[in-house]
Formats: sequence, structure tokens, C-alpha cells
Amino acid sequence: MAKIKTSFFCQNCGHESSKWLGRCPACGEWNSFVEETVAKDTAAAKHLSFVTTKPMPQRVDEISYEQEPRILLGSGEMDRILGGGMVKGSVVLIGGEPGIGKSTLSLQLALHREALKTLYVSGEESVQQIKLRAERLGGSGNNCYILSETLLENILVQAQELKPDLIVVDSIQTLYTDRIESSSGSVSQIRECAALLLKFAKETGTPIFIIGHITKDGAIAGPKVLEHIVDVVLQFEGDGNHAYRLLRSIKNRFGSTAEIGIFEMQSFGLREVSNPSEILLTQHDEALSGIAVAAMLDGARPFLIETQALVSTAAYGTPQRSATGFDVRRMNMLLAVLEKRAGFKLAVKDVFLNMAGGLKVVDPAVDLAIAVAILSSNFDLPVSSHYAFAAEIGLSGEIRPVARIEQRIAEAEKLGFQKIFVSKFHKGFPTASEITVMPVGKMDELTKAVFGQ
Ligand code: TYD
Ligand code: MG
Repeated sequence: MAKIKTSFFCQNCGHESSKWLGRCPACGEWNSFVEETVAKDTAAAKHLSFVTTKPMPQRVDEISYEQEPRILLGSGEMDRILGGGMVKGSVVLIGGEPGIGKSTLSLQLALHREALKTLYVSGEESVQQIKLRAERLGGSGNNCYILSETLLENILVQAQELKPDLIVVDSIQTLYTDRIESSSGSVSQIRECAALLLKFAKETGTPIFIIGHITKDGAIAGPKVLEHIVDVVLQFEGDGNHAYRLLRSIKNRFGSTAEIGIFEMQSFGLREVSNPSEILLTQHDEALSGIAVAAMLDGARPFLIETQALVSTAAYGTPQRSATGFDVRRMNMLLAVLEKRAGFKLAVKDVFLNMAGGLKVVDPAVDLAIAVAILSSNFDLPVSSHYAFAAEIGLSGEIRPVARIEQRIAEAEKLGFQKIFVSKFHKGFPTASEITVMPVGKMDELTKAVFGQ
């Protein structure tokens, strides 16, 4: 009988320590250490192997290099985020809060690609429950296999027999391996299960999608360690009040991390949104005051988003300031700049700001549109719906250049905008044919050009 060895693990980041600590030295979290059994019994600890031929060391100049063919998932957004389809033997972690749609997304991928034999393993739902969901999602399902199992060794045996082209594991927190005694969801279980899945993926060449729940502070629950092990980390995010979901690439060994994908949750599953501006711009019959359109970027993706402001006289002494989808401190800074540098009296006004679609915007290029929306609401003068804006505003009131202005101009042009206001400090940009590019340097130049006064 092997001696039972225990160790303490930080449940937040997975840091291991031989004794209990009040504060994790790695991530700084308080009171996060839990004792877990790590001793493996010697028979089970023998390495599992899934192939008979062992790889041999090879000299670099002898390695024949061919471009790995990518396996297409048939979902434009997903293939793009992965960098042009899946790579053989890659492990992709999809993280997200409970209820955001991770199971829906991955089951949909498994169901809709009939050319691929897929295995969807769920430790959370029964096969009947999954069947019900699959019926809502459509797709014939004649090449998609469902397994409801939580013991990892059993899953791997089934996978070895079935030889699928793609495995989805939902979720890593529900799995356990009998090589370790701690309960499923603990750091050591998650780490060990992920390592075994990775080994399976690399040795058999099967791509695996691992689903992981995220804690409220945004870390993939417990094991930050997972992020180091896997090849690709995707984060599924969105807010409960809106149907839109963003799939963001955080790490990708085979592609860019600047990619994001946009989906809309509908009654029959997730719909890909290939033109995000369609949902972020509302159609108005008449021009309304307090609305301005910003040409923003998220990752490498340009889109146009409506910023909405409401400015009204404060009923009580202290004016209210609130912003949805935008940092309220940055809004206060913009208000201070408008007051001090451009002479608009906003100190006694309530100001409310909203970004369309429930998006959280951090791109500084929305500054200009926000300032215009605030002034438009303040003066009750509508901004032409054919105008777009893309520039940052500095503390001295100057209109500053932003990154990738060409892409923003091109996107605005594509969507039929007639004029885009940018900083005059850009070092040249391509002259667009359909859209007029208006360089501005100061707020008063801008107000003249937009409101004609
Ligand atoms: P789910 O994929 O179970 O989330 P996760 O695996 O991330 O915990 O889906 C969550 C929500 O999606 C659920 O509240 C119901 C909703 N939903 C739809 O709106 N339409 C659908 O077709 C499906 C399958 C789910
Ligand atoms: Mg789920």
C-alpha cells in the first residue's frame, strides 16, 4: 500500500505548497489553500499509453515539414478564431460563466459537421437531456456520438474504440481520474485529467475541446494551470440581459489572439453574426439627439457601434453620472475636458451613457463619439446618421489619432456612412472613395463641422 501523500493547493491558481498558507504567494488570494491527496497508487500510476509505436528523437534537418492540414469545423466564426480550422491533436479550452452557452456552442459544433465523427462527452447532463437539446439545435446527428460519463479512464477507453475526429468534454470540472483520490473539480483532479486528455490528443492526433467553468472573478475555476497546458484558450462572454455572446481568443499556439467571434443566442441555438454592426446600429426613421456612431475595434475586428447619451438638468444638488458598457471614470474625464477645454457647462447636468448591444467598450477611439453624443443631447441637436467618429480625446482637449484608422474608415465606408471624423494628426491614410474623411484637431472645429455652430 503506497503511502498517502497530501499537499495543499490554492483553489484559485493551482499553486502547490507542502503546508497550509493563509495567502497564496503566487496569486495573492487569501484563504484559498485546501488539502488534497496526491499519492497515486503505483499500479495506476504507470503511464497510460494510447499508441504502440513510441516517438523517436529526430534531427531537425531530417524532419520533413508539411503544412498541417486544418480540420474545418464548418462554422465560419469558429474556424476563423482558431486561426483557420482545428489543428490535429490540439487541445482547446473554452471557458465561460455558467449559462453563457458553452454546452450549446460545442454541441452545435459536434452536431452540424456531418463529415466529422464527433464524440460529445458530458459529465453534467444525461444522454436524454442532450438529445432534447440536440433536437432544438437541428442537424441530423448521424455522425455525432454522446457519452454521459465522468470517469476519465472510461472516457478514454470509449474514445480509443470509437476513434472520433473530434472530442468535446463538457466540463473538465465534472471529470475525475481514479489515479488521484481528491474529489472532482479540485485543482489536482483538474490538472491530472487535463494532462491525460492532452496526452490522448497528442498521441492519437484527435483534437479535443475542453469546456471549463469560470469563477466570477474571471479565472477559469481553480486551475489557471490549464491555460498553460492547452494549445488554445477561448473565452465565451456576454451579459445575461442581451442575446449577444463574444468568443474571444486569449491564447492560440496556431493563430492570432486578436480574433473575436460574435454569436447571438436564439431559440434554436447560437447564430453566427458575421456583420456585427447590424446589431450595434439601430435603424431610425428620423435623426435623434444624443446618438453618435463610433468606429471601434475589438481585437482585430472593426465594427460600428452606437453610443447613446442623455444629458438633463440635475434635479438635486449632486448631478448623477452613470455609464453602461463604458468606464464611468473615463466618461467623467471626458465631461471635465468638455467643460474646461471647450467651455460647455455640464457640471450641473445629469449624464447617462449607454453602449448599444450590451457591449463593454475599452477602445479609446469611442471617445469622440461619446463627446459628440453628450453635446448632441445637451443641445438637443441630432447628429446626422450618416456620420461616424473615430478618435481619442486628450486631457487638453486635443483630438488624438487611434490605431488602425484605415480599417475603421473601410468598415464605415462598407456600411454606407458618408462622413467619418478622425484626428488630423494621422500621418496620412488612404483616400477612401465613397466616404469623406474629415480630419479635426480640436473640439470647437468638431462642433462646427457636426452641428454647424
Ligand atoms: P448552456 O449551453 O447550457 O450554457 P453553459 O453550458 O455555458 O452553462 O446554455 C445556456 C442558456 O442558453 C440556457 O439558459 C438556455 C439558453 N438556450 C437558448 O436560449 N436557446 C437554445 O437553443 C439553447 C440550447 C439554450
Ligand atoms: Mg453546460
